[in-house]
Amino acid sequence: MSTSAPSQTRKKITTRTFRQKAAKGDRLTMLTAYDYATALAVDRAGIDSILVGDSLGMVMLGYENTLPVTMEDMLHHCKAVARGAKYALLIGDMPFMSYQASVEEAVRNAGRFLKEAGMDAVKLEGGRDRAEAVRAIVGSGIPVQGHLGLTPQSVHQLGGFRAQAKEAAAAIRLLEDARILEEAGCFSLVLESIPARLGQLVSEQLDIPTIGIGAGPDCDGQVLVTHDILGLFDRFTPKFVKRYADLHAEMDRAISSYREEVESGVFPAQEHTVEMPDDDWEALKQWLNGNSD
Ligand code: KIV
Repeated sequence: MSTSAPSQTRKKITTRTFRQKAAKGDRLTMLTAYDYATALAVDRAGIDSILVGDSLGMVMLGYENTLPVTMEDMLHHCKAVARGAKYALLIGDMPFMSYQASVEEAVRNAGRFLKEAGMDAVKLEGGRDRAEAVRAIVGSGIPVQGHLGLTPQSVHQLGGFRAQAKEAAAAIRLLEDARILEEAGCFSLVLESIPARLGQLVSEQLDIPTIGIGAGPDCDGQVLVTHDILGLFDRFTPKFVKRYADLHAEMDRAISSYREEVESGVFPAQEHTVEMPDDDWEALKQWLNGNSD
């Protein structure tokens, strides 16, 4: 299997160079990461942008959905990712109820992602209802990525994790929302689980880059949840995910081998043990003899 290494002359990706790459017609790559080690791997692979998604609530913390995720959870994981990634554009996902209650709260919480957690931008879900918040956050100098289609924070309103905008009326509404978000100042837009032909249409209609996740091949870029592509999330695999590895199977193998080797005495072996010089060992034994009753 061949892998292509990113160029040696890499520069930090900014929202500006992110947009420029799409404008040139080059496809954008984005993956999630929630910890230092994964951020390092994703960054080294040359991925353009790392999303610290609130999907961490499900794949890292084991919640049923993303609703329980807090600002503190997000900032904790964003800080770890920022320590691991040097080049990728870092986007922090605003958790449920950190931007919906008031515009002031939205701006304050968005600011924390940049000020405390080393992110370059934030992402939030929703269309026209979030336009005022987007405008205010962007007005504070914070780049915002929008997110339309299947918006997981609205799982109860949507009636489950299901594909969106398959009917004309819903597709028109999504297209209007996309235009509103662009006009409000978003630098990019995630489109999740919508028909491929709608993904293409929205991408053609907007100047800002679209990033698809289950939105077809004609978006300006693609994003997936890293745990999904590595086979690290066992509960379900959405139709739009392609698995590139089965790391759960690899973890099972490694952990079982460890247990077997400890139980059978194979581990630790000579090379895993610390030696003590003979002189010191003899001195210790003499001391013990002199001090035993
Ligand atoms: O939270 C997340 O990981 C996301 C992506 C699925 C786009 O929002």
